[in-house]
Amino acid sequence: MQKIEYHQYGGPELMRLEEVEPPVPGKGRVLVRVRAAAANPMDWKIRNGAVKIMTGRRFPRGLGHDFAGTITAVGEGVTRFTAGDEVFGAMSMRDSGAFAEMVAADENQVVKKPAGLSYEEAAALPTVGVTAVESVIDKGKLSAGQHVFINGCLGGVGRAAAQIALMHGASVAGSCRDTAAADARALGIDPVVGFDFDPALLNGEFDLIFDTVGTMPFRAARSLLKPGGRIVDINMTPAKLARAAFSPAFQAVNAKYTPEALEAVAQAAAQGKLAIPVARSVPLTQAIGALTQLERSHTPKGGKLVIVPQATT
Ligand SMILES: NC(=O)c1ccc[n+]([C@@H]2O[C@H](COP(=O)([O-])OP(=O)(O)OC[C@H]3O[C@@H](n4cnc5c(N)ncnc54)[C@H](OP(=O)(O)O)[C@@H]3O)[C@@H](O)[C@H]2O)c1
Repeated sequence: MQKIEYHQYGGPELMRLEEVEPPVPGKGRVLVRVRAAAANPMDWKIRNGAVKIMTGRRFPRGLGHDFAGTITAVGEGVTRFTAGDEVFGAMSMRDSGAFAEMVAADENQVVKKPAGLSYEEAAALPTVGVTAVESVIDKGKLSAGQHVFINGCLGGVGRAAAQIALMHGASVAGSCRDTAAADARALGIDPVVGFDFDPALLNGEFDLIFDTVGTMPFRAARSLLKPGGRIVDINMTPAKLARAAFSPAFQAVNAKYTPEALEAVAQAAAQGKLAIPVARSVPLTQAIGALTQLERSHTPKGGKLVIVPQATT
């Protein structure tokens, strides 16, 4: 089967489309024929070696996390799925490898695909959806009637977080590129401010600040909080981890693909409350060029890059 791999950490020129043996599903794993896989910034952060302390030094490594497809076989001990199930899910940071014709995924990181969703729509959801649910609901503790400000409200995570917050009855304000403000308002976000907004103009009134971009200075975020409010950040640095250890108002979230979070994402999508636009769809044979372009681009993305393998095995 075909799979995108790399043999050392580094830039996009290291990606290769290689012919490899299909994986065998081990204990607790399901073998999935990938029908669509979606890109996330963590794909190239991992490939660049930014988190090699967690991802190790075993090569070749696969690329890609989010996928949707059909289960073709199950490993020992798998109880929740059988061959033929249509699913979506994510490979862990250590495993990666979703940009391939087949993946062997942990059954706990897979959920049944709602029937009304295409494979491409489903593949766009796992990482951004799970991060949104864990940041806004689990750690952010946002509830009906509360107010959240989302920095970067039209990125994958920001857009998912806005929809999850609105679904839970909260009101959402956010920042995005000035030229995209109408898109944010159409989602139900109000007020909408630009990237370089002045926090003083927002008048400190939020129960939760969710910084999806990692650019909000702590003081600016704190100045926007109601008493007892919380700040959630998903772009980790040593300084932020230290702050999270000492400041109960500040949470540094590293999302986990739990069955509960994936189920919450599937249910929100099934109800039509959560959708991430697919900006571009390419076959696996053109994926390296498209991924390189996405990684290097500084223009608005308008949604997910989705890779659609065409079976050769
Ligand atoms: N810790 C975790 O568990 C976790 C999980 C998922 C993602 N992440 C990280 O979170 C970040 C966001 O992920 P994503 O999937 O949402 O990425 P994404 O889809 O690329 O979105 C990033 C968004 O940020 C916007 N942006 C850029 N500069 C900005 C600024 N100065 N102010 C406000 N918005 C700005 C971009 O706008 P334009 O499109 O207009 O340029 C884009 O909408 C990435 O760094 C990712 O690695 C962490």
